[in-house]
Amino acid sequence: MPEQAARAARRLADGAYRGPGDALFGKRTQRAFNKGFASEFIDFRMGARARRLAGGGYFGHVGLLLLGGRHSSGSAGRCNLFVERPTNLWKRFESSPPQQERTAEMRPEEIVNLDAYPIMDPDSPAWSDLVGRLRRELDERQYVSLPDFILPAARERAVADALAALPRAHHNSSRRNCYLHRQGDPSLPDDHPRNIMLEASTRMLAYDQFPDDCPVKLLYHWEPVRRMVAGIVGRDRLFDNEDPCQPVNLLCYETGDRSAWHFDSVNAFTMTLMLQASESGGDFEMAPNTRTDDDENHDYVRRVLLGECPEDVVSVAREAGALCIFRGCNSLHRVSPVAGPSTRVMGVFVYEDEPGIVGDPEVNATVYGREVAPG
Ligand SMILES: [Fe+2]
Repeated sequence: MPEQAARAARRLADGAYRGPGDALFGKRTQRAFNKGFASEFIDFRMGARARRLAGGGYFGHVGLLLLGGRHSSGSAGRCNLFVERPTNLWKRFESSPPQQERTAEMRPEEIVNLDAYPIMDPDSPAWSDLVGRLRRELDERQYVSLPDFILPAARERAVADALAALPRAHHNSSRRNCYLHRQGDPSLPDDHPRNIMLEASTRMLAYDQFPDDCPVKLLYHWEPVRRMVAGIVGRDRLFDNEDPCQPVNLLCYETGDRSAWHFDSVNAFTMTLMLQASESGGDFEMAPNTRTDDDENHDYVRRVLLGECPEDVVSVAREAGALCIFRGCNSLHRVSPVAGPSTRVMGVFVYEDEPGIVGDPEVNATVYGREVAPG
């Protein structure tokens, strides 16, 4: 068991968190909303205000899907898959390998496509060429896509892990504006971006809800991947998140699920790995540089939200196996509504700028549907 997973298991054993599936939205969760930090919603992962394991007085932040997002999601209810999707339920069982057939833990070299991505030796010209190119692309376009980053066998195993755990996923469903606020501003016109409310719906599997030998976890904890990502996003070094829920998530979309147009709330990066695409829909769309740090550009944002600028919207390639890194702070982005029998499955990864970061339990309660430990 990786050290990270062992630490998470110890925290669970200590009773700080309850097991998956306890979607109890009690008074503490309501207080989280009332305090405002749970008033935002993010499509995949909602970061949290983070704190150090030791000391407890530090509040930096953990990214939303990424580094540093201050997103959180309020959620209402859980889906009953037995009632709603009997066909897909059958598909899940079919796709989940029987326990006795599970093979040995894959080595990282069996997970990452090292022929296409020579990430083992950071001193090699090939590493410098690859990372340098991707870093320039990220700076210019606000996103980079690394197709076929994960090998097919590893991807299939990760999908099977996700589908096996999907009945226990937390169903996040919300209505909010592109700034991730659930409330509009009545002093502004109805068509102001702050008053254009959009529906979002996703199904979230926390880190401790799928196996420790799932390929996405092994990939996340592997130094060559962490080092490559740091190089692409311009950091000297990155660290694993140490929360029981947040380090790696499997974000699933079934028919009708979608992520609405939004800005990420901080200038961090988002890293995702497409594991299984849907038959139709589920496109990741972005309007690069919709606003700047100095100009909210409300009129242009409104036109993008209303679909008046289709020529400015790019659809980022996210075929199965593709790793995507993007900056969503100033670029509107969304996942279009999913349709078809296949569940869209995506890994979401959170790296940190310093070690020892965990999430706020109250925010985790809204994102993952956990009951908050008595305080
Ligand atoms: Fe986002």
